[in-house]
Amino acid sequence: MTVAAAIVLAAGEGTRMKSSVPKVLHTLGGKTLLHRVLDSVEGLNPGCLAVVVHFERNRVAQAVEQYSPNAVIVDQDEIPGTGRAVQCALAQIGDRLKSSTGPVVVTASDMPLLDTETLTSLIEEHQRSGNAATVLTTTLDNPFGYGRIIRDEQGHVQRIVEQKDANTAEQEVKEVNTSVYVFEPAVLMKATAGLDADNAQQEFYLTDALEMAHEFGFVGAYAAPDSLLVEGVNDRVQLAHLAKSHNRRVCEAWMREGVTILDPETTWIEDDVRLSRDVEVLPGSFLQGKTVVEEGAVVGPYTTLIDAQIDEGAHVERSRVQESHIGSRANIGPWTYLRPGNVLAEDTKAGAFVEMKKAHIDHGTKVPHLSYVGDAHIAENSNIGGGTITANYDGVHKNHTEIGAGVHVGAGNMFVAPVTVGSGVTTGAGSVIRHDVEDNSMVYSENSQHEVENWTPHTADDAPQGTADSQRK
Ligand code: UD1
Ligand code: CA
Repeated sequence: MTVAAAIVLAAGEGTRMKSSVPKVLHTLGGKTLLHRVLDSVEGLNPGCLAVVVHFERNRVAQAVEQYSPNAVIVDQDEIPGTGRAVQCALAQIGDRLKSSTGPVVVTASDMPLLDTETLTSLIEEHQRSGNAATVLTTTLDNPFGYGRIIRDEQGHVQRIVEQKDANTAEQEVKEVNTSVYVFEPAVLMKATAGLDADNAQQEFYLTDALEMAHEFGFVGAYAAPDSLLVEGVNDRVQLAHLAKSHNRRVCEAWMREGVTILDPETTWIEDDVRLSRDVEVLPGSFLQGKTVVEEGAVVGPYTTLIDAQIDEGAHVERSRVQESHIGSRANIGPWTYLRPGNVLAEDTKAGAFVEMKKAHIDHGTKVPHLSYVGDAHIAENSNIGGGTITANYDGVHKNHTEIGAGVHVGAGNMFVAPVTVGSGVTTGAGSVIRHDVEDNSMVYSENSQHEVENWTPHTADDAPQGTADSQRK
């Protein structure tokens, strides 16, 4: 199947979103609407991919270049409307179209669940019927806001009437335009040439081009087999509805693959996440980016994983883990914050109120309570006492802390990096470790205790008067 070109319309502001962010850059399941549509359209391998931009032009164009570096960016002028957008695209890619074969696909970019399969079926139907133009339609219980498909007595598609232009009878029609079309290139050129803005919104409607296409051949419609995939997003209520429905399907697909999801209503799994059999996901969890969870691991409740790798049998409870690797049977949480760059080996622990960043924790080592470990390597089978901090930042550089194997760190230690502590070391509670420590030593630092007897604390009433200077005398 050869597609000469795909034209993606992304110039609209999306006023109904009431946002300073262009509608197509809002996200569903961690990806922008634009990214999703471009992925699906690129699945067709079109000879040329044109994306029409206007509102927040630079932002949208930059996003297009990021997702589809080979796309042609088309600037729509000040004249509004989907029809005008296509005219502008044809002005730029028309010459290329003349020398290529296959039809042209035109699609809006506010339909985040549109997939390559649906597009392919539409094109196949268009070619099988030998149509001049074919529109992708669906039937909705609540068609409000959509253009309605108006058919004649024989059931042939006549035209599309927009919500704002529809009379009462037309508003009853539940079959709607999805804003995805296939045109023969010559038909699209001729049909869009004659558009005007004689309508309620005073815009050039692409829908009118479908009616014009009758002059050049048969105009058909293809009903999308799955209406959810072709629903558009015009406001944030629709966005939330589509996100929820899509997430529900993602959760169900994983359950069918052997993942236990206790409450799919409060579990959010993005498309690129990979889960294994017998993974258990507990309520209130967000699995994002390229997160991978291996067999038998338990995630949640209330856990966020972002680009995380969780190995077999690990537990991550009430925590946030980003760009980190959690080894088999490791125990994370509750209330643990793992910022990017951690590698925790098998049978390790990062317990309550522990924060880590670029920490490498070897096999069997435990950081159970209230600690910060950053830019550090702790070798195997060590134990870090509660309230321990690696002081990794001297105001200019981030410095490394190295702790050996089998080390027992007392409670409330401070490692002033750069510093290296050998293996088999024991440190006293409350130590400030500023200098390297030899293997198998016991180390503690002085912090002498002073006691003032019979001390009566000042109250607000008898607090000393005067300036700070006079008090000091
Ligand atoms: C459009 C269709 C309507 C259809 C609905 C499906 C028209 C006139 N109406 O209406 O029949 O049922 O989509 O969701 O086509 N855009 C531009 N330039 C513009 C205006 C819009 O590129 O000047 C782009 C938008 O960025 C968006 C798409 O075209 O991706 C659709 O625009 P939108 O304003 O959402 O059209 P609807 O009112 O939903
Ligand atoms: Ca729309």
